[in-house]
Amino acid sequence: MKALITVTHPRTNSLTHAVMNRIVEGLKQNNHEIDVLDLHRDGFNPIYTVEDEKDWIKPDKIYAPEVRKEMDRIAAADTLIYVFPLWQYSLPSMLKAYLDKVWNMGLFGKMGEKKVLWICLTGGDEDHMSKYNREEMLKHYLNVAVSGYARVKESNVELLYDTLSESKEHIESLLERAYQLGRNYE
Ligand SMILES: Cc1cc2nc3c(=O)[nH]c(=O)nc-3n(C[C@H](O)[C@H](O)[C@H](O)COP(=O)(O)O)c2cc1C
Repeated sequence: MKALITVTHPRTNSLTHAVMNRIVEGLKQNNHEIDVLDLHRDGFNPIYTVEDEKDWIKPDKIYAPEVRKEMDRIAAADTLIYVFPLWQYSLPSMLKAYLDKVWNMGLFGKMGEKKVLWICLTGGDEDHMSKYNREEMLKHYLNVAVSGYARVKESNVELLYDTLSESKEHIESLLERAYQLGRNYE
């Protein structure tokens, strides 16, 4: 299986990057083919231009080369894995901008065989995330609204909680969880 892993974080020494690296290790152990997109490092331009918006509803629109390139990477993958921190109980703006541009009408008919996994690092712990249905809201948004609208075959959200903890054991357990997610991914 070919996996496209998209990581979003301004710092490469972030826990988000460490989690991404552990997932990649696990996926490789499992003999999956890997393509990594680092939205910040690879210079993805988050500005949605007049040309991006023009004819957005038409699936046969001629997309900007940068957008077309990312659409082709998605088309070549069986599974899409997004690794990102929770910011304002939502996606970092860079990832949202990527979805606005790349998860476009030209791809919507082509997502029916794809699996999507959203791995979200949350500063809040499990209790904090369950309060006020925060976790449920996020899962509903990603699985039902975003993935559902794009007609992906299967969408799952994994939360890695309490990422600002000073406990080394806790952070290690998050990294181990990330490794196991990759290791056991089917
Ligand atoms: C701009 C910003 C917004 C954040 N918003 C939230 C939030 O809404 N809920 C939450 O639980 N944590 C929030 N956090 C904490 C991040 O989720 C936390 O810093 C991250 O998971 C830690 O991993 P990292 O070292 O890879 O950044 C926010 C952090 C930043 C910088």
